[in-house]
Amino acid sequence: MAKSLLTLFITNPLLYLFSTFYVIFQNLIAWVFGPSRFPKTFDKGLPKKRIAIIGAGLTGVSSAAHCVSHGFEVQIFEARGKEKGLGGIWSRVNSTSALQIHSIMYRFHPTVRYKHAYPTQQEIRDQIVELWKRYSLEEHTEFGTPVTSIKKAKSSGKWVINDHPEKYGSFDGVITAVGVCGDPKIPSLPDQNQFKGTICHSSDLDGKDIKGKRALIIGGGASAIEALEFAVHSGASEIDVLSRSDKWVIPRNILVQSLLACNIWGEETSLAWVPEWLLHKFFYRDLEDIAPESGLFTTTPMANSDLFNLIREGKARWLRGDIVSVKEDGILFNHRSKEVPKGGSGRERVVPGDIIIMATGFKRPSLSFLPNDAFEENYSPPDWYLQVFPPKHLSICANNSTYVNAIGTVGNIHIGVYTRFLLMFLTDPLTQPTEGRMKTWIDFTRWMKQGAPPGAFDFFTYTELLYWFVFLVLVNPFRWKWALFILFGVGRTLPLEVVREEAAFRKKLEKQHH
Ligand SMILES: Cc1cc2nc3c(=O)[nH]c(=O)nc-3n(C[C@H](O)[C@H](O)[C@H](O)COP(=O)(O)OP(=O)(O)OC[C@H]3O[C@@H](n4cnc5c(N)ncnc54)[C@H](O)[C@@H]3O)c2cc1C
Ligand SMILES: NC(=O)c1ccc[n+]([C@@H]2O[C@H](COP(=O)([O-])OP(=O)(O)OC[C@H]3O[C@@H](n4cnc5c(N)ncnc54)[C@H](OP(=O)(O)O)[C@@H]3O)[C@@H](O)[C@H]2O)c1
Repeated sequence: MAKSLLTLFITNPLLYLFSTFYVIFQNLIAWVFGPSRFPKTFDKGLPKKRIAIIGAGLTGVSSAAHCVSHGFEVQIFEARGKEKGLGGIWSRVNSTSALQIHSIMYRFHPTVRYKHAYPTQQEIRDQIVELWKRYSLEEHTEFGTPVTSIKKAKSSGKWVINDHPEKYGSFDGVITAVGVCGDPKIPSLPDQNQFKGTICHSSDLDGKDIKGKRALIIGGGASAIEALEFAVHSGASEIDVLSRSDKWVIPRNILVQSLLACNIWGEETSLAWVPEWLLHKFFYRDLEDIAPESGLFTTTPMANSDLFNLIREGKARWLRGDIVSVKEDGILFNHRSKEVPKGGSGRERVVPGDIIIMATGFKRPSLSFLPNDAFEENYSPPDWYLQVFPPKHLSICANNSTYVNAIGTVGNIHIGVYTRFLLMFLTDPLTQPTEGRMKTWIDFTRWMKQGAPPGAFDFFTYTELLYWFVFLVLVNPFRWKWALFILFGVGRTLPLEVVREEAAFRKKLEKQHH
């Protein structure tokens, strides 16, 4: 690190300044907000609580670290073996995969320290593994253990995992951190057995030699852009992206991303045309044809500043349309113009290719191991309290597992905030909302966002998320004492003192009542 900073100082002093500042900033965050690895016994007098955490990706590991540092016991259950499970999706994608957003927005735990502004797969995975070790989570992780059921024990009311109380014990709370990217999604294409070349998924490009080959990339999401960049850097001779729908691309710029995330309403407002117009005029420019018709605040945009330049330089083509069938040496493609919907008429032609890269996404991991009543009509994920608590089960927190679309990021401070909400609910009964209150909040949010095209909880911005947190702390005076704890992870000793006093007072009242 010191050596690379020295090189940077000589070659680019300005960037050196930024990098040095970023390193200092991260150390400061870790020092101020990094929760203790060895919690004091501040929970004296309160029963020790256990939390089951499902998934060992960055959300699971970060949530577990937060729980441990606040004096809770944890057990992590990971479906896959250690090699492909620890680090979640970041253990299973290409070594060339990298963050599209600035790493300052991907600080999934206060103690994370990145060396690069846009780290690649290995650096992110290393940070997850280091965090896992730092908080001594090795002895609390069961690899190769898919969770298939979570049931409440009749006698204790606590959660039992996979019907195995003897083996795993029981739990006061559950954090499901199964993520949204499971196994690769590889739909079969019409007549794909005709194809003479190779077909592979976009997450499986390591070691693929495509120098001088013609690459056909199916899909128009973030993985398609990554595959396009891979193909360019690998020296593919022709690159065509075959995309059936248009998605927003925004500059890979922290200021732009932060400004867009500032839309506190989390939906298309009457002012949304301003950023959309600016993006059209100054970013898409001559490529306006591939800008989507739908609003910017309806789906997750892709952050990339190189894509359009690569297209302009003729290194790749971005085609909109539908696959008709696969041929021996290419794909018969119905090239549609912008106004024509999916499957509509267009101009058919064979786009030649030697390799087909399926950038068709990932299967969504199932939450069906949760109790059936977590999926009530009208209150199914993502329409849960704060998007993560099923109204019938406040002791379940589906951290980052119900997410659909957002301008923001999955790996950020909210992992800690959500975890601490759960810990507060488990510790202090007076802060718990009733099922009715939770549903009222969901209904209220749906009413507030009734005009939002994808549905109230199917799209949000990061500022909206922060507004939810502050609002839900403020509306219940019993939560005020927890505000610093919830939002910043500090001041946890004080609320526990108050909780003890409250519990003693309640006991006294109960006695008087009897
Ligand atoms: C190439 C790529 C780049 C990305 N870049 C970004 C980005 O720049 N910004 C961003 O915000 N997001 C990005 N993402 C999205 C990414 O999914 C999240 O940012 C983040 O990694 C999710 O972490 P997670 O821990 O929530 O889920 P995961 O990393 O998916 O981990 C979930 C874990 O849960 C386990 N699991 C699932 N079901 C069960 C079960 N029933 N029992 C036990 N274990 C189970 C899985 O095996 C897995 O290990 C990217 C995704 C990909 C594929
Ligand atoms: N570096 C990064 O930041 C990065 C990189 C990769 C992935 N990710 C994240 O990982 C997640 C998944 O991204 P992704 O790009 O892999 O998947 P994705 O966003 O789900 O995109 C999949 C694409 O494939 C298309 N598609 C699916 N089935 C198809 C079929 N049968 N025929 C033709 N096209 C088909 C989809 O079209 P429709 O939209 O029309 O269905 C879509 O364009 C996202 O959250 C993304 O943000 C991030």
